[in-house]
Amino acid sequence: MKFFIDTANLDQISEAQSLGVLDGVTTNPSLMAKEDITGKQNIIDHYKKICNIVDGDVSAEVISTDFEGMIKEGEILAALHPQIVVKLPMIKDGIKACKYFSDKGIRTNVTLVFSAGQAILAAKAGATYVSPFLGRLDDISTDGLHLISEIRHIYNNYGFETKILAASIRHTMHVIDCAKIGADVMTGPLSSITGLLNHPLTDIGLAKFLEDYEKGN
Ligand code: E4P
Repeated sequence: MKFFIDTANLDQISEAQSLGVLDGVTTNPSLMAKEDITGKQNIIDHYKKICNIVDGDVSAEVISTDFEGMIKEGEILAALHPQIVVKLPMIKDGIKACKYFSDKGIRTNVTLVFSAGQAILAAKAGATYVSPFLGRLDDISTDGLHLISEIRHIYNNYGFETKILAASIRHTMHVIDCAKIGADVMTGPLSSITGLLNHPLTDIGLAKFLEDYEKGN
């Protein structure tokens, strides 16, 4: 399973990259705003900075909600850097734009997916990635992991090549459960990646090894 980090924070992206296990980055307008990155040019410059830190795919989201606007924005974003993946909302014009970009060989990520039906449409439109938001489903007492497994099952049935990018990951158990289901990618905060390091028996074991080494020296 690939690991993407879901942030526009350059320090956190660099920290994850330095671990050597990072495969890409996802951003959205809210994550950009959280870092005080506003205005078209600043946002574009920020995407370039992110691409210079990581080796993998970087999702850059369009703001337009109409087909023509999405095409215009998406073409500008895709031309920024070969690592950019155009992120499109799961609405009618988003699906049309997804088909347009996939026919042109421009990679896409269909975002804000909350149902298996939406995931089928994204795959049929040739999306490179589909982003089901599991945390936000959990937030409304709906089983987000169940959606990931439904999409896995359906995509396997038909050999859809669209990658399942489990999004809105909140914690390490989401990461582990998505890996069990067979999500292709997970995107989450830095803590969902670094949290996987932790086990008290590792800490106790290491302390004992070091203590015993000291005794013998
Ligand atoms: C996905 O690409 C989104 O940026 C993201 O995962 C949303 O997560 P949230 O529900 O934690 O905002």
